[in-house]
Amino acid sequence: MRTPVCDVLGIEYPIFAFSHCRDVAAAVTNAGGLGVFGALGSTPDRLDEQLRWIDDQVRGRPYGVDIVLPARSLEDDHPAVADLEAMIPSEHREFLAGLLERYGVRLDEAVTRVTSKAAERELVDVALAHGARLLVNALGPMPADIAERCHASGALAGALVGSPHHAVKQIENGVDIIVAQGTEAAGHTGEISTMVLVPQVVDAVAPAPVLAAGGIASGRQVAAALALGAEGVWTGSLWLAVQESDTPPVLKEKILAASSSQTVRTRSVTGKPNRFLQSAWTDEWDAPGAPAPLAWPLQMMLTTPAIGRIMQVQQRELITTSVGQGVGLIAEPRSARHVVASLVEEFIEAAGRVGALVSG
Ligand SMILES: Cc1cc2nc3c(=O)[nH]c(=O)nc-3n(C[C@H](O)[C@H](O)[C@H](O)COP(=O)(O)O)c2cc1C
Repeated sequence: MRTPVCDVLGIEYPIFAFSHCRDVAAAVTNAGGLGVFGALGSTPDRLDEQLRWIDDQVRGRPYGVDIVLPARSLEDDHPAVADLEAMIPSEHREFLAGLLERYGVRLDEAVTRVTSKAAERELVDVALAHGARLLVNALGPMPADIAERCHASGALAGALVGSPHHAVKQIENGVDIIVAQGTEAAGHTGEISTMVLVPQVVDAVAPAPVLAAGGIASGRQVAAALALGAEGVWTGSLWLAVQESDTPPVLKEKILAASSSQTVRTRSVTGKPNRFLQSAWTDEWDAPGAPAPLAWPLQMMLTTPAIGRIMQVQQRELITTSVGQGVGLIAEPRSARHVVASLVEEFIEAAGRVGALVSG
């Protein structure tokens, strides 16, 4: 399974694991893949603390950090949080309050927190100071100055894309590794499926390395991704229900029980299309009479405290998470090390099967 990107990053397997849980990121790195810690919404101090913990666990093995800097948003013209808050209509606040009340969730603090571009940029310094080997950006082109800062500190720059056109733009901005993320993925996704997207992105940016993302949860799919020309796989959903993950137990249960048809691309959480586990939350925002979700970052400012509270109290009907269609392939809680080992074993079997077709 060794591809050139393994040598560049100093990893054993080209298995990349995105997670907001530090334990998962560290466990995958220690199992020979590359754990990527999702820093969205963190403060510099908090990120510093998390990365210090990861450093202690991985003892020099490489890991990555992921930030989210959207291409253009309301924030560009309205940088002050108070101005943005004032743009959230009372209709939306009332709808959300009513929704929470119907499901018995009490929200004590109505304070909204916003992930500002300026704050996300500060996270870059923290990640690079810790020696992260890979810094990845989602939701827009990696700013060229950030790619340069990565290179100056010996790190590689990566970016998530949902179309070949966006991949080319990323390379022009200095990105080294492209993550081609299909619509079946968890999180903010485009509309093109992984199977169709990956070969197009590979051709568009060759010889730059491409990682296939979206729906990958088995070694057979890793073999397929490498057959499509990817140098590795970038996974997210697969790690939500592993033993090390801090996903609340009720949510883990729902993930393990869900089929591939129980995800929806919804704007109800952040304002941008984001694949989530279908739940009463996504249904309510989709129901007739519900207000249309607001633009980024307003919808996220409105919903972040509510989503956090729902997670905290584990309200079974409402609780949800970003998750991809690969959720239907996740059926038991295993350790991250076990998941990495199974991906490798299954890959070898699948590659052997296909190889046998060639050799006759
Ligand atoms: C709970 C969760 C949160 C995510 N949040 C982010 C994020 O903040 N930034 C990002 O670049 N990708 C995020 N993603 C998407 C992953 O980076 C990855 O592209 C995706 O999970 C791959 O598809 P898969 O889930 O089918 O494996 C998230 C994924 C999950 C499961």
